[in-house]
Amino acid sequence: MTRVISVVSGKGGVGKTTVTSNLGTALSRQGEDVLIIDGNFSGANLAQHFGLGFSEVTFNDVLNGDAYITQAVSKHPEGVSIIPASVLEFSSNAEQLKHSLVEFLGDKDFVFIDAAAGIGEEVEAAIEASDEVLLVSEPELPALTNCLGAKKLAEELDREVLGLVVNGVKDEKSEVSLEDAEDLMETDIIGKVPDHKHVRESIALRKPVVAHKPQSKASLAIKDVAHRMKGNEPPERGLTVRLKSNLHDLNPF
Ligand SMILES: Nc1ncnc2c1ncn2[C@@H]1O[C@H](COP(=O)(O)OP(=O)(O)OP(=O)(O)O)[C@@H](O)[C@H]1O
Ligand SMILES: [Mg+2]
Repeated sequence: MTRVISVVSGKGGVGKTTVTSNLGTALSRQGEDVLIIDGNFSGANLAQHFGLGFSEVTFNDVLNGDAYITQAVSKHPEGVSIIPASVLEFSSNAEQLKHSLVEFLGDKDFVFIDAAAGIGEEVEAAIEASDEVLLVSEPELPALTNCLGAKKLAEELDREVLGLVVNGVKDEKSEVSLEDAEDLMETDIIGKVPDHKHVRESIALRKPVVAHKPQSKASLAIKDVAHRMKGNEPPERGLTVRLKSNLHDLNPF
């Protein structure tokens, strides 16, 4: 059965696209057939995270009835299928968005919709088109508060909330603790992704960090989310793996 999951956050710039592109890649590396759709028409940049160039056909064309969805699919070397969007046009239409996915139901294992920031029409369309909603936030109060708004919208639309991925964790005192974040959000935290230069570096190189630096702590954290999403416990990592990961992250190159 195909799981259609929208990734929302409320506040912008907290790592939705980063988490989605890496989670999709991690799941693909675990043998799942994954499609990621750029559902962020006001800030479409999913294609850049995968190093895809200009697309002749975008998701906007599909929603506008000018192309079949299969024409808009690009296959990334990592195995993930991607449907890019264009920022030049606003094309949010909940019914069409949902309808366009029918093509992949029963075919793909996972379809992710990388949503826009906020809780407006665009985000509502992404949530409505999905069965499950994954929340992403940074560990700070304004981001979590906005994320709570996105969660409320998902609940109002009767969608299952999968949990929260806390991204960009610096382990600083000023951050909201994971326990407090869990209490505030009233949902499980299914991932804690550290803030790390490897992530920024991988975005600059236009390659998901789980492919660019698979042993980096950020990559390991994303891979753990992928396991949890499938209802599995992440693998226990021995001392050697953890030490290697620490050394890996300390390496300036
Ligand atoms: N774990 C991380 N470590 C370091 N930097 C990160 C991390 N996650 C995200 N970033 C930085 O934050 C930026 C914004 O991330 P991203 O584009 O994924 O956010 P977004 O929520 O999708 O934004 P938007 O709301 O605009 O769609 C990235 O370009 C990157 O520089
Ligand atoms: Mg984004």
